[in-house]
Amino acid sequence: MRGTPIPTSDISRDLLARLDGARARTDQLFDTVKQAYLYERPIPERHRIIFYIGHLEAFDWNLLHEAVPTRAPWDPDFDRLFAFGIDPVDGGLPSDKPEDWPAVDAVRRYNAEVRESLDSGLELATRAPNGNGNAPLDHLLHVAIEHRLMHEETLCYMLHRLPLEQKHGKEQTRPSVARAFRPEMIEIPAGRATLGLSRGGTTRFGWDNEYEEHEVQVPAFRIDRYMVTNGEFLAFIEASGYQQPALWTADGWRWRSDRNVSHPAFWKHEGGRWLWRGMFDDIPLPLDWPVYVSHAEASAYAKWAGKSLPTEEQWHRAAYGTPEGGERQFPWGDEPPSPSRGNFDFERWDPVPVNAYPEGRSAFGVEGLLGNGWEWTASVFGPFAGFKPFPFYPGYSANFFDGKHFTMKGGSSRTAACMLRRSFRNWFQANYPYIYSGFRCVSV
Ligand code: AVJ
Ligand code: FE
Repeated sequence: MRGTPIPTSDISRDLLARLDGARARTDQLFDTVKQAYLYERPIPERHRIIFYIGHLEAFDWNLLHEAVPTRAPWDPDFDRLFAFGIDPVDGGLPSDKPEDWPAVDAVRRYNAEVRESLDSGLELATRAPNGNGNAPLDHLLHVAIEHRLMHEETLCYMLHRLPLEQKHGKEQTRPSVARAFRPEMIEIPAGRATLGLSRGGTTRFGWDNEYEEHEVQVPAFRIDRYMVTNGEFLAFIEASGYQQPALWTADGWRWRSDRNVSHPAFWKHEGGRWLWRGMFDDIPLPLDWPVYVSHAEASAYAKWAGKSLPTEEQWHRAAYGTPEGGERQFPWGDEPPSPSRGNFDFERWDPVPVNAYPEGRSAFGVEGLLGNGWEWTASVFGPFAGFKPFPFYPGYSANFFDGKHFTMKGGSSRTAACMLRRSFRNWFQANYPYIYSGFRCVSV
């Protein structure tokens, strides 16, 4: 056995079962791509699909192989080739060719061998706890599980853009139970919000950027009861919002102009009408679904509406605060997520109307906070006081503390239930329009 044994809670069968469950999800997702298209690059700024097939296993191997008894590394080239993805903010577009990548059979063989070796090591480790560096094995397993589940979602964004004929998958059935509603704003009184996770506290898992726990006082504000809909965003387009530099930041305007962006990336204009580009079909634009846009587009809309995006603190306060002064674990209370609370945990591929889940509403009556699309905040993604990078993955968050990434809260239909915890923070750069992320506005 390599690595330094350190005392830890035994890794549970439950964690191994969750790793298996996450593997089944990503395996199924890759199976939606027709074999001939595995070397496509649906998002110009990102790697080709083949990279991600190798990445999930290489990541697990690099993370775990010194922490459990495995065979010696046998393919250091693949371990390195597939170790890390690329962030779209890093300047020029990648120019690699399909033939620069190994054959899919070789990647699949590598994956099978990684799983076999790790699984037998993990099996032994259930009896003899170990770790990597100074992290307990159960902690590393959470990292492997959540990393994979996050990629389930980021791969969905990517495969969402793959032409429909390159995917298996059928037209989605969509319940049409929309209830009429009017956009409105809800008054949130001044009060406290608790962000982050406490290191001293429980054994709950959190990523490096979730620490340390801290309390903030939030002045009174008003917030949209629902996420901004496609229908509302259409009014911004019709009012020439994409043509008015004054509504955009300098950086956002440059992006809009360079790329000639004139509508959300999930929409297309065809035969004189707007369509929604779904995961497996295109449908007439549903006006009561949340609009998915980049941070730059969301900010321009908010400015046009005379409002702004909520800060991370305001979002917390609206989601988890109560009129009595207490705080909840989830908007609806302390019960764990279940299907009646929101559009999350892989229930669907696409969104639903913004008012579809009254049972998920917060104590203040704000709806649709978890699921159905992440929500951009006005807050630049940065460390909380007391931040310490994970020694075994120092770049996970710290590489993105560059002032160009914004914090997102909430979750989408492809966000796993485990990442709906209050302290979870997501982030992307401002000009990234391909993600399942919308927004709601605040005003004073
Ligand atoms: C937390 C979703 C922004 O996809 O860039 C996956 C997650 N980091 N592999 C990303 C991640 C490394 C990350 N996000
Ligand atoms: Fe990754």
